Amino acid sequence: MKKYLVIGNPIEHSLSPKLHNYWIKENNLDAVYEKKQINKDDIGGIVEELKKGKIDGLNVTTPFKTSMVPYLDHGGLIPLAERPPEVYVGTSLEGKSVNTIFKQNNKIYAANTDGSGFHDSLSFLNLKIKNKKIFVLGAGGVVFSIVAALKWNGASKIYLSNRTKSKAEEIKKIHTNNNGKSIIELFNWENLDKNLPEFDMIINATSLGLNKNDLIKLDYKSIGKNKVFYDLIYNAEGTDFLSKGLELGNSVYNGASMLIFQAARSFLIWHGINPLKEERLAGTINHVFPNFYNHNQTIEQ
Ligand code: ATR
Repeated sequence: MKKYLVIGNPIEHSLSPKLHNYWIKENNLDAVYEKKQINKDDIGGIVEELKKGKIDGLNVTTPFKTSMVPYLDHGGLIPLAERPPEVYVGTSLEGKSVNTIFKQNNKIYAANTDGSGFHDSLSFLNLKIKNKKIFVLGAGGVVFSIVAALKWNGASKIYLSNRTKSKAEEIKKIHTNNNGKSIIELFNWENLDKNLPEFDMIINATSLGLNKNDLIKLDYKSIGKNKVFYDLIYNAEGTDFLSKGLELGNSVYNGASMLIFQAARSFLIWHGINPLKEERLAGTINHVFPNFYNHNQTIEQ
């Protein structure tokens, strides 16, 4: 039996085992997917288990997406020519942040399916990004992928705000061209409760909202309505950020569809099967988010 694992800290909230085990069963595979809370010191040992074949694949989540990189062979970069293109959409940033680890020709490689998962979710939710101004909150591992996907989709401007400014600066640096131009503009985290610039969509990519009492101190009144609020967090209770967005008359979306699409790409890498083909998306949503439609209307088909 093949064994897959998601590692992170905390990990209790992760819905990845539920998703992957559902697809494993649907596809009659002899495999199991488990979750494990680890510390940074444990990463080396887990990669050893992967090398020895005791584990067949890993998902890596917060806060290890970047710390995993030094353990990969050749920085985890699989030669471009060997990449099935449908799996590796936008993985040029995998040297920075990885979420799917696999073994090929006895080497340990990684991909990042967050960017393609977010991209797929934008298409699924019919959210048009071309020439739109997007406000992104956060600059953690996942934001590398979010920014990349927003750029592929033709965003005209990305405002980026993070509590630790240096991390936002690093992302801006990567996305600055040789002429010193970037569509990214930094916005001070301390000024979020003052006047915000005009934007079409705001994305919460911080972990604020994972705990029920977490608040993002935004100047919600200045945002007004007819905007899109997108929270990468997918807990069924919803977040204060999405509730406030909804109260103001905006469309709100949580991270459920991105979770499903990024997981589907990991599944494709490991098993060579797209688990969402044959209209399996609705079945997956019902299985993983049974009360989803009762809690909010963020996924409509
Ligand atoms: P991920 O890989 O999922 O992006 P991460 O790298 O741990 O996870 O990033 C968490 C994000 O949430 C960061 O942007 C972090 O801000 P810092 O870079 O300043 O740490 C943000 N975050 C977490 N707790 C926060 C808090 N209490 N206030 C503001 N931002 C917070």
